[in-house]
Amino acid sequence: MMANGLITPHGGELQITLIKESERAALVEHAQGLVQLEIGSRQLADLEMLAIGAYSPLRGFMTRADYLSVVNTMHLSNGLPWSIPITLAVTNEQAAEIQEGSEVALVNAEGVLQAILLVQEKFGYDKTLEARQVYRTEDEAHPGVHVVYQQGDVLLGGPVRVVALQPQTFEQYRYTPQQARAQFASRGWQKIVAFQTRNPVHRAHEYIQKCAMETVDGLYLHPLVGNTKGDDIPADVRMRCYEVLLENYYPQERVLLGVLPAAMRYAGPREAIFHALLRKNYGCSHFIVGRDHAGVGNYYGTYDAQHIFAEFDAAALGITPMFFDHTFYCKVCDAMASRKTCPHGSDKHIILSGTKVRQMLQAGEVPPREFSRPEVASVLIDAMRQPVSQA
Ligand code: ADX
Repeated sequence: MMANGLITPHGGELQITLIKESERAALVEHAQGLVQLEIGSRQLADLEMLAIGAYSPLRGFMTRADYLSVVNTMHLSNGLPWSIPITLAVTNEQAAEIQEGSEVALVNAEGVLQAILLVQEKFGYDKTLEARQVYRTEDEAHPGVHVVYQQGDVLLGGPVRVVALQPQTFEQYRYTPQQARAQFASRGWQKIVAFQTRNPVHRAHEYIQKCAMETVDGLYLHPLVGNTKGDDIPADVRMRCYEVLLENYYPQERVLLGVLPAAMRYAGPREAIFHALLRKNYGCSHFIVGRDHAGVGNYYGTYDAQHIFAEFDAAALGITPMFFDHTFYCKVCDAMASRKTCPHGSDKHIILSGTKVRQMLQAGEVPPREFSRPEVASVLIDAMRQPVSQA
């Protein structure tokens, strides 16, 4: 616990790797003499997370000991819980140009310097092992596994000094962990529940957020806006949905809307742990885990992402999970409910899959108001229509 009553960051303090403004000119010049390595949007997102301290205690891309320890045991080599590898993969040809102990300039697609990486180690790794352990499948159709199989065969590990952040979308909502903590402190919040999401908000989301809000000081609504798979709804549309929902149905003084710049991994249970640890860094004491958290297809059981918390020492995790059953609208109860609170049969429940909702929206059909608030449905329908009217 910190002096303001907020939870201590993972590992004790925030590890900020963004350089000071006063160091920039010298580092930019220094970088000109280094091997230049272009990185993609996923690594840019990881760099931002490292820059702002959201990946604390990490200060860079994982070296071999941490990587293997995370893959095999879900803990860093120093014993702290950590469930997802944070790695920088390069091809064999790229690796041949880079010596261990040297520095590399990480640049974006336009060649602009983003960070300087001190390459402590370059090492080969077993992609199928990572797939099996982290994603629980070797199937390349899994979007997270696909990324691992497509990337280079060599990992570069070592600390980074981040020089620039990727272009900042959603600027007004892009709180760093320090800024989110300052917001919470200024509101006098200590018990804060975080909500991760990558989908347009529906009534079940709202219901579990509000159930949680009944017992804490405030809600940190924290949609992920880094890379998602192609058929997920784009982040700008999802943010508009949140704006109209908050405007109409939430007490403003009990909610903070912010964005998480990280990329989605779709690693289900392992990603639930990861998502919780990131929110701990942002200052949240509690974290919502509902049905099939961070899941995709049928790779994970409905509650696997809840069961995995039992494999960890609760004190070492620090942040407390709040579990919710699959919730839905029940026509007889005339309310949102779950199997824990509703005695009626599933024929009375309104349950729509994401795919079904997308189909309805594309056809211009409004999803039932028991599933989606009309204000949210209208944002989604407008967004779906746009590409058609442009065609
Ligand atoms: S996720 O990939 O970010 O987990 P999504 O945005 O759908 O996807 O879910 C956000 C959170 O709400 C997750 O914790 C998820 O488990 C939970 N959730 C989504 N739908 C339901 C539901 N019908 N009942 C209970 N929890 C749900």
